[in-house]
Parts: sequence; C-alpha cells; structure tokens
Amino acid sequence: MKNILLVGSSGQLGSDLSQKLNKKPDYQVSKLDHYQIELTDKDSVFSSITTLSPDIVINCGAYVRVDDCEDNAAHAIEVNALGAGYVAQATEEVGAVCVYISTDYVFDGQKNSPYLENDPAYPINIYGISKLSGEHMVRSYSTKNFIIRSSGLYGLAGSSGKGGNFVNTIIKGAKEGKPLNVVDDQVLSPTFTKDLSKAITDLMETSKFGIYHITNSGECSWFEFAKQVLSITGLSTELNCISTEQYGAKARRPAYSVLSNSKLENLGLNMLRPWDQALENYISLLT
Ligand SMILES: NC(=O)c1ccc[n+]([C@@H]2O[C@H](COP(=O)([O-])OP(=O)(O)OC[C@H]3O[C@@H](n4cnc5c(N)ncnc54)[C@H](OP(=O)(O)O)[C@@H]3O)[C@@H](O)[C@H]2O)c1
Repeated sequence: MKNILLVGSSGQLGSDLSQKLNKKPDYQVSKLDHYQIELTDKDSVFSSITTLSPDIVINCGAYVRVDDCEDNAAHAIEVNALGAGYVAQATEEVGAVCVYISTDYVFDGQKNSPYLENDPAYPINIYGISKLSGEHMVRSYSTKNFIIRSSGLYGLAGSSGKGGNFVNTIIKGAKEGKPLNVVDDQVLSPTFTKDLSKAITDLMETSKFGIYHITNSGECSWFEFAKQVLSITGLSTELNCISTEQYGAKARRPAYSVLSNSKLENLGLNMLRPWDQALENYISLLT
C-alpha cells in the first residue's frame, strides 16, 4: 500500500487526479485543500506533510492567475516558488517522492518546433518566473522528484484560481450570444486534466525521476481551440480572430508553447490522445 498526499486536491487538476488515484486499490490517498494547508506558511506545510508521512506528495496547489501575477509578484513567488520549496523540503524529510506540476509558460515561445525538457527555459511573465523558480526549488531540495509541465488545462472542476476554464468561457459566451474575440497568434496543446491525471499516475509508478512534458497531442491556436468548441457543441456566435497585441492582456505570453512528449513516449508510456478528441470527450461529460 502506498500513501499518497495530494495538495490542492479540489482544484481543476487536483479533482481529476483525486478520482484517478482513488480507483487504485494499492493507494491510500490523503487530500489537502487550501483551507487545510497554506503553501506560503512553512510550518503549515511541514506539519501537514510530516504528520501524514506519505510515500508520494503531489503538489497541484498554485497561484494560477497569470495576469494578476504581474501585480502580485511577491505572492506568486511565495506560493509557486517558496511554497513549492517547503513542500519539497518536507517531502525529502519524510523520504517521499515529490511531484510538482509546472507549465509551458516557463518558455519564451520563440521556438517553432515542440519544446524538449532540456530546452533552455526563459519565462516572459511573472507566473512563468515563479513556476520555473518552483521547479528549481524542487530539484534542489528533493532527491526523488517528478516535474511535470503541461499546458492549457481544462477539466470538469474548472480552475478554482481562474474561476473556470477557457472551454466553459467560450460555451457560456456563445450561449449568451456574445461576440467572442480570441487570439490566433499563440499556439499550444490544450490538455484535458482527466488525460493528464492518468499520465501522471502512470509516470509516478516508474522510478524514472526528472522533468516531463505531458499534454494532449497536436497543437492549435486559442482561436482554433475556440472554433472547435463551437463546432463540437453546435453553438454559434460571432467568433473574431484577433492578435495578442489587440487583446492587450497584462502578462506577456509565449507565441508558441507546444511541448514535445517524446521523453514520456521513450519510457514506453502511452501518449495522450489528440487534443480535439479529448475536447470532444470533455464536452460530452458536461451536463
Ligand atoms: N490552468 C492551466 O491552464 C495550467 C497550465 C499549465 C500548468 N498548470 C499548473 O497545473 C497546476 C494545477 O492547476 P489548476 O488549473 O488545477 O489550478 P486551480 O484549479 O486553480 O488549482 C490550484 C489549487 O491550489 C490551491 N491554492 C492556491 N493557493 C494556495 C496556497 N497559497 N496554499 C494552498 N493551496 C493553494 C487552490 O485553492 P483555492 O482556489 O481555494 O485558493 C486550488 O485548489 C498548477 O500547478 C498550475 O500552475 C495549469
């Protein structure tokens, strides 16, 4: 029996991971939500982890509001970097494996082919800087760690930090008959948290520690992503293709952040299905 501790368990990814882990008969899963653990408080993190003394700690807790991070840089660093460091230190103290969830936003987006795990990371916004710092914390404090970078997450729980997810925003806007303006010059691999959860669980069962890129396969722009949401749901509304500059978000974002999953594939683990198939599955599960 393995004891797993899931931090940030009611978030978008945390919820799906929790369901996936609960189905494993050889796992005993403990879950901590934000009201039970405060990542910015070293004592809170250490007492939670040392009391439970798990075999594996999965940290899905994060400050994920990318634009707000620009104005709240100290908080982003406290949660995503220092908090990740406290989790890694406490995890090491109890001899456990540390799993940290990171992001495609550690890259600057200047590449035009999928990013490999060992490509240099140069984040261009505070959120990316805080998450890359979190990766460094984990690598320096934990001897047995998995760092998993993913992108464009959507799941049934919706991001609690962002108040939903992109797919739900498009569906809601279309139902209200609102014109939607979506950028066409940022390319990514949108990822269903249910698929990511399965891949994380499979990877954890190996002892092949290190950094991994895990996303649904294929790539699209946010505009193409939105178009596919409308096509699958059969909803129609005015959908305008705009540039990042026209959108005018506070934080800069990488123009291209597709992540190569070849390292995962080389381990012999299943590649995730194409993003549009995963999206179709997600939409079919919405009530
Ligand atoms: N969303 C994306 O598109 C995306 C893309 C790539 C990578 N990621 C990474 O994937 C992971 C999961 O993201 P998600 O979409 O599932 O986000 P989410 O739904 O917002 O989940 C984050 C969780 O962290 C908790 N949390 C926030 N601040 C905390 C703190 N100071 N102490 C303890 N818990 C705290 C939140 O609780 P409250 O909401 O109650 O505060 C929430 O349960 C994160 O590491 C994120 O950086 C996300």
